[in-house]
Amino acid sequence: MAELALHIDGLTKSYNNGKQALKGVSLDVPAGSFYALLGPNGAGKSTLINILADIVRPGDGSISLFGHDLFADRAWCKRHMGVVPQEVAFDPFFNPREVLKITSGMFGVKPDMTWIDELLGRLELTEHCNKNTRQLSGGMRRRLLVAQALVHRPPLVILDEPTAGVDVELRRRLWDFMRELNAAGTTILLTTHYLEEAEELCDHVTIVDKGTVVADRPMRELMRDVAGRYLWLSYGDDFVLTQEDEVALSAFQPRTNGKGVSLTLRHVEGAASSFHAAYEAAVTRFGPPQDAGVRQEDLEDVFIRLTHENDDKVNA
Ligand SMILES: Nc1ncnc2c1ncn2[C@@H]1O[C@H](COP(=O)(O)OP(=O)(O)OP(=O)(O)O)[C@@H](O)[C@H]1O
Ligand SMILES: [Mg+2]
Repeated sequence: MAELALHIDGLTKSYNNGKQALKGVSLDVPAGSFYALLGPNGAGKSTLINILADIVRPGDGSISLFGHDLFADRAWCKRHMGVVPQEVAFDPFFNPREVLKITSGMFGVKPDMTWIDELLGRLELTEHCNKNTRQLSGGMRRRLLVAQALVHRPPLVILDEPTAGVDVELRRRLWDFMRELNAAGTTILLTTHYLEEAEELCDHVTIVDKGTVVADRPMRELMRDVAGRYLWLSYGDDFVLTQEDEVALSAFQPRTNGKGVSLTLRHVEGAASSFHAAYEAAVTRFGPPQDAGVRQEDLEDVFIRLTHENDDKVNA
């Protein structure tokens, strides 16, 4: 089996107010992966990350990092991971370079000024280096947090919404940097609400909802097996889908909005999809369409479907 950067088994957490934020979450992050932990607001993502960061006390369950038990061997684990929590307050009296020097000391490493300057450059903070942290904007603070998590060059980096409030251009460059780190061997686990970016960057996705895992798959597999494809055929305003039509096309789960018909395409092993069969079936039934197109569900569609299915199953 591939080496695991992070192994979490049956993790639970109830807050003092009785809120059960994690109801037995298990996940395995292979070393070298770019891993997305996704979920709607309140799903339990930050709770899990804050347990890793020693900010929140865990309930039951076990966690190990590269085979080292987190709770038995905190010091070793701290040196081998960098965590960017969702919310943090900086000491307002220091500037970014000083913050990074202090952070190095906290990890027990001698500040590597070459690496610190490179981090400041890559996170586009060099020109803000002489400001106190209280003078930094929200986006700059988030980037400084990312720099802090990387200052001791940990093999596992855990980022809780690293790009929240970061503008689109900078976000792109930040992701490029993450991609480079990952290519050089760093394992990255992140949460984000930018699902398009998660789909593009991450090779594995775990979706949590209300404290439980609802999907845990390699990104490619999830998109291949769970993301639907639809053939849409337009027939004009007075289109009606009769019950006989529904029976005739039942293999494609036809749906209509009164202007045409949408047919579900299935993944067929060895073929692109059931596109031809669906198209032929519709033309046989309704004649040639005025227009047609294929729509592929993206991660956002899959995410919404999976987290809504969970609505009935689990109490909030
Ligand atoms: N300190 C706390 N005391 C009580 N309940 C808490 C506390 N922190 C979080 N919760 C609750 O635990 C649940 C999980 O919250 P958490 O912050 O882990 O969610 P999240 O997945 O990170 O959400 P978001 O996407 O909004 O950041 C929520 O219902 C939240 O209200
Ligand atoms: Mg959160």
